[in-house]
Amino acid sequence: WPRSAKRDDGVMTVGGVDVRELAEQYGTPLYVYDENDVRARAREYAAAFDDGDVHYAGKAFLCTAVAKWLHEEGLGLDVCSGGELAVALAAGFPVERITLHGNNKSVGELERALEAGVGRIVLDSYEEIARLGYLAKERGARPKVMIRVTTGVEAHTHEFIATAHDDQKFGFSRSSGAALEAVRRVLELDQLQLVGLHSHIGSQIFDTDGFEVAAHRLAELLVAIRDEHGVELPELDLGGGYGIAYVPGDEPHDPKAIADGLRAIVSRECKAYGLSMPRLTVEPGRAIVGPGGVTLYEVGTVKDVEGLRTYVSVNGGMSDNLRTALYGAEYSCVLASRTSEAAPMLSRLVGKHCESGDIVVRDLWLPEDLAAGDLVAVAATGAYCRSMASNYNYVPKAAVVAVRDGRSRVIVRRETDDDLLRLDAEVGA
Ligand code: LLP
Repeated sequence: WPRSAKRDDGVMTVGGVDVRELAEQYGTPLYVYDENDVRARAREYAAAFDDGDVHYAGKAFLCTAVAKWLHEEGLGLDVCSGGELAVALAAGFPVERITLHGNNKSVGELERALEAGVGRIVLDSYEEIARLGYLAKERGARPKVMIRVTTGVEAHTHEFIATAHDDQKFGFSRSSGAALEAVRRVLELDQLQLVGLHSHIGSQIFDTDGFEVAAHRLAELLVAIRDEHGVELPELDLGGGYGIAYVPGDEPHDPKAIADGLRAIVSRECKAYGLSMPRLTVEPGRAIVGPGGVTLYEVGTVKDVEGLRTYVSVNGGMSDNLRTALYGAEYSCVLASRTSEAAPMLSRLVGKHCESGDIVVRDLWLPEDLAAGDLVAVAATGAYCRSMASNYNYVPKAAVVAVRDGRSRVIVRRETDDDLLRLDAEVGA
């Protein structure tokens, strides 16, 4: 739950605001962000890596307000599409603090990045090295680039969000020699300035060994590059992936411990081979915005399926939180609008979509007197919920509200039916 969430008299407040008021004023489903929580986590990462850089991974959740908060807290930004870049630029995010990622950036995206003058472009394929080299030459630009390396680490997380084992689409493999071949090709192009290596091993990872093995392997590559080309690359970007608590038992990372661990490993390797310590960057997304976000839903129906469980249907579902359906993600959820002394009943929180896999929380206990009109709150929905939202069943996307010190404001407005129809070419024809 967000740090400011309280349930003193059974009714939840977030950022000092009663959830019933939020539901009344803005409607539900509603994404609620505790602005102080998000800012505080950003500051903690920035402080832990004060000799390096923290780039927030915008894919976790991006809008102009959040981009501004994180810039104010001293973070840079990682974007992975032209759309995310457009939001960052619209927010006035300093362009030299932006890194562009992606395994298949379009020519248009690369052109926009060059025109804007983004700080770093992370190269992911041989085609892209040639493509960016050509585009940069055409413009007389000399972008700073990094090479994404697949370090061969088997991260302990869901298969869909592990990204550093060899059999997947991202980056250049270290073990096959592709990473060193990519370095050769980039160094041949005067118009690309190679500043470092990048690796991202996956997401929602608790075991820090994987990050450390990846850091060690990248440091070894820095040595190999120095030996082959006589150049010392000044930067290592170690990606994100730090796990957060969704359910009891999840033990989130302490940013300082992460920073100390990574720094120690890279510095040991560099010292051993006489390299100067590179500047370290990390790219946490979930760990910055995940815990500070809560989704509020209104209960619509409570259906007892005899002998099995009670299905509680809320007015959203897989369109506002796809993670349960896609990854079997687990969440914590409580009755947020009142107290209840009723006995707990085994429940499943489901959405309103035409799909039986439309589940928000697979197994949870809710009070037996739960009824239509009650509000429930689902914790830790700040990352990868709004950003992966869809309009399945032509359901408008929910609004995003920021709360802070007893006040609330909309930072992304709720979609309307007009928004849904805006792209239809033949309305009322
Ligand atoms: N850097 C790169 C290059 C990435 O690909 C990602 C995430 C991050 C940083 C941030 O990772 P984080 O710190 O947020 O774990 N939709 C999935 C997560 C996909 C993450 C993709 N890349 C989910 O909902 O769990």
